[in-house]
Amino acid sequence: MIITIDGPAGAGKSTAARNLAARLGFDFLDTGAMYRAVAWAALERGIDLADESAVANVSRSVAITFERQQVFVDGVEVTEAIRSSEVTAASRPVAANTAVREILSELQRKLAVGRNVVTEGRDQGTAVFPDAEFKFFLTASQQARAERRQQDFAAHGQQLPLEQILKDQADRDHRDAARSVGPLKPADDAIHVDTSALDAEGVVDRLSQIVNSA
Ligand code: DC
Repeated sequence: MIITIDGPAGAGKSTAARNLAARLGFDFLDTGAMYRAVAWAALERGIDLADESAVANVSRSVAITFERQQVFVDGVEVTEAIRSSEVTAASRPVAANTAVREILSELQRKLAVGRNVVTEGRDQGTAVFPDAEFKFFLTASQQARAERRQQDFAAHGQQLPLEQILKDQADRDHRDAARSVGPLKPADDAIHVDTSALDAEGVVDRLSQIVNSA
């Protein structure tokens, strides 16, 4: 069975997907980590991110693997490194690259074959797994999302003012929705869940209730 969780940054997707997978005994696929892994490898190799074919070659040549909670690129453990603000910024042009999206989408489908998976990203219910049994689209208020992002940054040792996060978030939402390649939008049959007033436990309760009562 495939369960997709899409939505904007800060809606609580990662935590929800991880927790839902644990609760159901499913595997968890973090597709954002895959875009970040390609961005990390491109930076490591000194590739010009504007050179679309060079970046596409990086995505073709790297081996991205997941083991327990860790992410590896060509055997190098990059779990924390791919969360830096530099990699976050670099992952934007990488995610807008058509060839990279095709390659990573294919890899995501391969990783899910024959398994029970909760997969999380932006295009999982629309482009990658349109036939998934459950397609969730998580949203939250601007304020709630920004506060969560601020906590995420703090957990990685970066203190950022809320105003800056709110501004970056608005810019990013606009870019993500306007992007011609893989824009962020809910699937027509997505189940919308507003997480603003829910804590992590509340979100996973809600999602698992929907899955279990179907
Ligand atoms: O969810 P995240 O912040 O780890 O995602 C990293 C980048 O990859 C971000 O720019 C959004 C993009 N992304 C995407 O375009 N499609 C996905 N399925 C997952 C992430």
